[in-house]
Amino acid sequence: MKNFPENFLWGAAMSAPQTEGQSLNFGKTATTWDYWFQIAPEKFHQNQGPAITSGVYDHYLADCQRMQEIGLNSLRTSISWARLLPDGKTVNQAAVDFYRQYFSAMLDHGVEPIINLFHFDMPMWLMEQGGWENRASIEAFAFYAQTAFELFGDLIKKWTTFNEPLVHVECGYLYQYHYPAVVDFQRAIQVGYHTLLAHKAAVKVFKAAEQAGEIGIILNISPTYSKSEAQADLSSAFHSDLLNTRSFLDPAVLGTIPDELITLLRENQLLPEVEAGDHELIKENLVDFIGLNYYQPRRVQAPEEARMPAQMPSDFYAAYDWPDKKINPYRGWEIYPEALYDVAIMMKEAYNNIPWYVSENGMGVAEEERFMKDSGEIEDDYRIEFMKEHLNYLHKGILEGSNCFGYHAWTFVDCWSWLNGYRNRYGFYRLDLKTLERSVKKSGRWIKAVSENNGF
Ligand code: BG6
Repeated sequence: MKNFPENFLWGAAMSAPQTEGQSLNFGKTATTWDYWFQIAPEKFHQNQGPAITSGVYDHYLADCQRMQEIGLNSLRTSISWARLLPDGKTVNQAAVDFYRQYFSAMLDHGVEPIINLFHFDMPMWLMEQGGWENRASIEAFAFYAQTAFELFGDLIKKWTTFNEPLVHVECGYLYQYHYPAVVDFQRAIQVGYHTLLAHKAAVKVFKAAEQAGEIGIILNISPTYSKSEAQADLSSAFHSDLLNTRSFLDPAVLGTIPDELITLLRENQLLPEVEAGDHELIKENLVDFIGLNYYQPRRVQAPEEARMPAQMPSDFYAAYDWPDKKINPYRGWEIYPEALYDVAIMMKEAYNNIPWYVSENGMGVAEEERFMKDSGEIEDDYRIEFMKEHLNYLHKGILEGSNCFGYHAWTFVDCWSWLNGYRNRYGFYRLDLKTLERSVKKSGRWIKAVSENNGF
């Protein structure tokens, strides 16, 4: 039996744009996802757009009951900026009513809400002004954060500012998976820098208001594993860590941007525009806790050719395909649970053993109806196995003193996934796309037992 610390959070994670639906109704204005789907629906798996998703806007009451039914004591979702402040300034009362009822219903069912402010869903009104490239986005985000803290602060005790800020930087400005789908390293760095400042500005507002509760940020993390001990590979791994791990984790927890990262950007003419006062904003305003999303390890090797100045991250490091890897063929991601132990020790040793939790971990599988029993239940033993393996390594890290306070799976009910639509299913509950009915999978019954026993 693996026992977890007292009051351990067992839960699931989801996001507003991937679950709410009613995407252009009840006062909500468009995000980049609504807009992109409108102009380029062919980019989206089976033309599945953000309009309906899992219909949580209408199903939230029964969903909160379902959370309790499978033993979840906590759940992370996000507020939609474009729903709460449709023009960035005016509060939408329908949104306030919806979120207050939703969060209250979670609490009524013994589920602690962890509420995130930005999950890749840039409001169109701000995108039209340049989105995160525009420095004005920092103040706009701070105003949104303050509004949310004031409106929901009596219900929410754990806030996070961003989910995986690196992802909207990379996907929007390097790899073309998110709107505006441009390829420009310099702009990507500026977007990342403004995102970091927006995070800091929100933390500042939170602390200034002497808000009850705690604030953190959710980062997608894996230690970087080098192909070999050769100097060139190790140096690439170091650069990968600087850009992918330390770029947000160091400033969030320690209040510093690594000197080596600044040097690397300077040498490659990639430094962002900086203003007086930024240094203090970054130095102060530290987080109370960290959420870490972990799905797959990052393995790198030295690139065969590197341009100077760099045009893409691949000029610093190349992906390394480990021949011995185990893979989830549906998502194409390596399965390497050992990394959770390495992450736990990294948090303990390099980040002052700050409280942290696994804010996402999970396995997306296509055509899950293949595993449906006569009773209609999806027998997702592969998912249970995946979570057990990861929890085993997390447990080892906790036993060695890492300050981890929870484990959230992605996700609660199968949800809509950006360009992948509903192809890969991750939920404890299956979603019927025609009726939006939810039915519990075997993993949902399993997590209930884990939560009740506080271990397995
Ligand atoms: C995380 C994101 O990176 O991974 C989620 O926070 C996302 O929004 C999840 O849905 C799973 O990835 P995907 O691309 O399979 O949906």
